[in-house]
Amino acid sequence: MQINNDEKKAYGSLLSEIANSEKMESKSASEILKWGFEKFGDKMVLASSFGAEDVVLIDMMCKIDRNLTRVFTLDTGRLNQETYDLIDKIRKKYDIIIDVYFPNASDVEKMVASKGMNLMYESMENRKLCCELRKIEPLKRALKQFDCWITGLRREQTITRNKISKIEVDSLNNNIIKLNPLADWTTEKTWKYIHDNRVPYNELHDKGYPSIGCEPCTRAIKEGEDPRAGRWWWENDLHKECGLHWKEGK
Ligand code: ADX
Ligand code: SF4
Repeated sequence: MQINNDEKKAYGSLLSEIANSEKMESKSASEILKWGFEKFGDKMVLASSFGAEDVVLIDMMCKIDRNLTRVFTLDTGRLNQETYDLIDKIRKKYDIIIDVYFPNASDVEKMVASKGMNLMYESMENRKLCCELRKIEPLKRALKQFDCWITGLRREQTITRNKISKIEVDSLNNNIIKLNPLADWTTEKTWKYIHDNRVPYNELHDKGYPSIGCEPCTRAIKEGEDPRAGRWWWENDLHKECGLHWKEGK
């Protein structure tokens, strides 16, 4: 992993551990989470969209230390009912607080007044604006109080993710630590964990959705289609991302 000067300043003694990427890459998902709990305690948080990967991580975190488990979700205002149902199911089963971040109301009001409720279908510029206001700004706000965040990203998901590390320094978010404990997991391994551990999962998966996003921008895929094909399906771009994890040009 390349470490720049700002990162060196921020991490001091942790740095040699983080930079020892071979050692970090050889850790299992639960070892990565345990490492995170030890180093960051309640300053570590899982960002959850309530897709398959994120419920695996919630189950693992609660098994390691339920009291230290922090989870938030970005409610764009356009999520599916199935996702809201699952959020409540998870809250009850694990008895944890799930923080919900909403977009800034007046920014969204201005956006839909000038560009319409379904602006995302009209141009890529509009779609990116909607993602910026409904997801990225709330993510930045949510992460301000944490030193480390966890995601359910997996290398197998799409070409933009095939080089992620299990531990990264997040230059998009104040150089906090970003953990991707499932980076090397396959879809099969993810589902085996869910079934073996009876983890509640999003009903959309049984309706053909491999990944969970906003209702207007996500749909079920057909057999043989790329797993990301249901996201922003009208955009013809293999690199499509909403910007939570990557910025164009970075
Ligand atoms: S996205 O960038 O295309 O939306 P994806 O849906 O694959 O990402 O999810 C990847 C990871 O990003 C999830 O495992 C989760 O950690 C985080 N994430 C995505 N959407 C949200 C959300 N609405 N709230 C919180 N975290 C999210
Ligand atoms: Fe808006 Fe769609 Fe992005 Fe959700 S995924 S924030 S609805 S453009």
